[in-house]
Amino acid sequence: MRISVIGCGYLGAVHAACMAKLGHEVVGIDVDERKIAELAAARAPFFEPGLEELLREVQETGRLSFSTDMGAAEGSAVHFICVGTPQKKGENAADLTYVDAALMGLLPYISPGDVVVGKSTVPVGTATRLAEIVKEARPEAHLLWNPEFLREGHAVSDTLSPDRLVYGVAGGVEEHHGVQVLDRVYATPLEKGIPRLVADLPTAELVKTAANSFLATKISFINAMAELCDAAGADVTLLADAIGMDDRIGRKFLNAGIGFGGGCLPKDIRAFMARAGELGADQALTFLREVDAINMRRRTRVVELTRELCGGSLLGQRITVLGAAFKPQSDDVRDSPALSIAAQLQLQGAVVTVTDPEALGNAARRFPELHYEEATSTALKGADVLLLLTEWQDYRDLDPYETGTLVASQKILDGRNILDPSKWRAAGWTYRGLGRP
Ligand code: UDX
Repeated sequence: MRISVIGCGYLGAVHAACMAKLGHEVVGIDVDERKIAELAAARAPFFEPGLEELLREVQETGRLSFSTDMGAAEGSAVHFICVGTPQKKGENAADLTYVDAALMGLLPYISPGDVVVGKSTVPVGTATRLAEIVKEARPEAHLLWNPEFLREGHAVSDTLSPDRLVYGVAGGVEEHHGVQVLDRVYATPLEKGIPRLVADLPTAELVKTAANSFLATKISFINAMAELCDAAGADVTLLADAIGMDDRIGRKFLNAGIGFGGGCLPKDIRAFMARAGELGADQALTFLREVDAINMRRRTRVVELTRELCGGSLLGQRITVLGAAFKPQSDDVRDSPALSIAAQLQLQGAVVTVTDPEALGNAARRFPELHYEEATSTALKGADVLLLLTEWQDYRDLDPYETGTLVASQKILDGRNILDPSKWRAAGWTYRGLGRP
């Protein structure tokens, strides 16, 4: 099938490459010339494992091209809208400028029978509004909503083999023309037995926001337990293992630590609350305010613990922060708890050095005032306190004895609870976890 993908950020670039991998003829469109030039040269504009290899593989087949010209969408039967929906400045609500602009720009190139498919995370009600615009301007075209659940760091495999496919169509009926079109788009994953659900437009939109809210709640739940464990002298890691063995609860997303960040979870729960308010259902989501508050409290807690480890004052203390990305396997620093903690420590008088295998470029653009060091061993040299804030494998594998020879003082705060405390203590370290005795 001929497919256009509008917006080539994390979502769109991966989606375009994966659609070509599934055998379709794809054009990726974005207004950002630099991004398009990179993608056209089969280079990923951000770090995502497997993406560059996939771009090279599919570009050799000639099935994937990129353009900054919306006119390139003409002739495609399916148009995926994959642009961002960031948080509005100074508000909780989502900024729909890019979604609206993408659709308006696309309208002149839509032919009868075409299907426009929204993939961006949007406030419930957006799809119905956009469907009306399409109906008015192009009565024989259709608008569907097909939310994306990919995780950064696993984006390629999540797109090629998702847990489920959700098709939102007006009326939520199987017989909708768009359902048949999407079944052709996703023929390969469907043949592998991946479940697909047909829903009405608002339900499809809500599936995404509800899923992200649930995940955020799960993380904040265990972080609240970590606060309690700290107060009671209990161990949150063991607690998570034990409650996670109940398969109604499950162990995944129960890792207590410095909390969630990134370009999705924080802004999605806020946009969800804002939308609920507009719909007069704000009471239903007031708990998300608490989820957000617990999450933000993690950052303050780490700053306070670090101050304690420094003997009461951060002034002039050399602190090395391991990890800047919001999670491993990513160079994304949007709302990264690690970077936000590093910046707060610096503001309070510490001398902070940050290292990360992939995210230093993005981190330095966000917080130029921090000191960055590429090599872990150089970053460790002379540190008074170590903070492990993003659980990259390299940091999991650190040897406590070897690390001990580099630092000035053997004090470590494990912000992700991934190190073995007994091993580090045996090597002479003062070890602090979060919610661990
Ligand atoms: C998330 C959703 O998982 C994905 O389905 C959706 O499409 C986009 O948003 P992503 O932002 O890539 O994906 O990251 P995710 O893996 O969900 O992690 C989010 C944050 O939670 C990270 O900062 C991570 O470190 C943190 N986290 C995750 C925890 O603190 N504890 C956990 O147990 C799990």
